[in-house]
Amino acid sequence: MALFLIKKTMTFDQKQHLDTSKDYIVPCQKNNIEAVKDILPITNPDFDGSFSTHLLLYGKNGNRIYLLGLGEEKHSTKLEEAFRKLSVDTQKYWGKSIQVYTNDLNGHQIRKAIIGLKLAQYKIGEYKSTKEETSKTSVSICTTENVETIINEGALIGQTINRIKALVDAPPNIKTPEFLAKWAGNSAENTNYKCTIFNEAELKNKGFKAVLAVGKGSVNRPVAIFNEYKGKTDKEVDLVIVGKGITFDSGGLSIKPSTNLHYMKSDMGGAAVVLGIIELIAKLNLSVNVTGIVCSAENAVDAASYRPGDVIESYSGKTIEIIDTDAEGRLVMCDGLSYAVKNIKPTYLIDIATLTGSVVRTLGYSAAGMFTHNQEMAQTFSEIGYKVNERVWPLPLFEDFENDLHSDIADIRNFSGKPIAGAINAAKFLEAFTDNHKNWMHLDIAGVAFGDSAYAKMKSATGYGIQLLLEFIKTLATK
Ligand code: BES
Ligand code: ZN
Ligand code: ZN
Repeated sequence: MALFLIKKTMTFDQKQHLDTSKDYIVPCQKNNIEAVKDILPITNPDFDGSFSTHLLLYGKNGNRIYLLGLGEEKHSTKLEEAFRKLSVDTQKYWGKSIQVYTNDLNGHQIRKAIIGLKLAQYKIGEYKSTKEETSKTSVSICTTENVETIINEGALIGQTINRIKALVDAPPNIKTPEFLAKWAGNSAENTNYKCTIFNEAELKNKGFKAVLAVGKGSVNRPVAIFNEYKGKTDKEVDLVIVGKGITFDSGGLSIKPSTNLHYMKSDMGGAAVVLGIIELIAKLNLSVNVTGIVCSAENAVDAASYRPGDVIESYSGKTIEIIDTDAEGRLVMCDGLSYAVKNIKPTYLIDIATLTGSVVRTLGYSAAGMFTHNQEMAQTFSEIGYKVNERVWPLPLFEDFENDLHSDIADIRNFSGKPIAGAINAAKFLEAFTDNHKNWMHLDIAGVAFGDSAYAKMKSATGYGIQLLLEFIKTLATK
């Protein structure tokens, strides 16, 4: 396979004043053309500011002026989408530089605009044999306020989302567990955090028996990745985030139907968020201590595969009866969670995983399933999720569901065997490995990590989770 790197770069700076003789973008709220009329070449353009529409006007020098519709208040959470679409549709006509008039935007909106422009630089065709031309665009944010920090943050968020999308969209023959480990190692070398990899031998030594059981059927050996970012001097770890890193989920011996099976390359969406967020907070130098744990394996079919009926062991010491080998995510995750509560004892413990088809049937592609006993955390996540347009929706952890975890022959079973409440059943399984951690939250992102978009013909990575976790981590950094 011929592999070419397609490079599209976009850099950002700030200018105090807009140069109206050059190209520029003018964001405009619905029915509010009045607010920007002073910088337009005509008084009454045919434009009402509807969300994500644009109108091209030409200035005296033949320079391009893009009126960009931001729509109404209800569209404010997805402002980056308007900038992304404008860039995807028109960037080929821009010169080497463009200005964005942002005097009427607040900091949050400017950050969203920059993220949107960055997201437009993502190229999904990394594995095509034909090489695309490289392009370089410099964007000047024109405002009288000082927005250097916001510009830097927006650009890094956009860059991180693009990097994790590339991971999730990568083919499973390339992004093996060891590939994810190398990605993390390289990232740590280029940034200021520590990366430790447990390869198969170390997983055996340390007792990650559930991860090993899931990985038994693949030639691509399992790994666990530990990314430690220390942004402050005290030892206490504020947050551990555990991510599901199944690089391909065939279902194992409880094999999945072949329709859409290729999309199961996205079963490491949680891992990608964990890898990305540690890199991002390290680049942003946030004053917080966060560790990311990725448990990664390929769930493959082979004579060596683990079977339905097997009883396996786990890091916690609990024995698990396997009912369905397709319920593999909760197995790799339970070892990551047990490791965190036993060895790291963080203040907050979050896990993020493309865990169940059930959550997709429940919430569709609109929100992640959120499970926690901590109402304050739930409230914070709901608010942040709405604001950054990476929404979460609460689902219960009622005791009633505990019976569904009963096994006659082992400590616990990995699936209720019932066609109901699958996302809750999975969450209850994970809960059994958290040692009743008061600040634990489980996010089931099966419906939101990967999906349809206007920019690809097939389903592709969404980058969901980076902004949600970043905003939460920022609340910890200021505590
Ligand atoms: N990786 C899947 C969940 C999934 C489904 C992710 C759709 C993304 C889109 C998970 O490992 C799985 O197969 N879950 C099963 C569990 C069941 C067999 C107990 C499910 O939810 O159907
Ligand atoms: Zn599965
Ligand atoms: Zn899976």
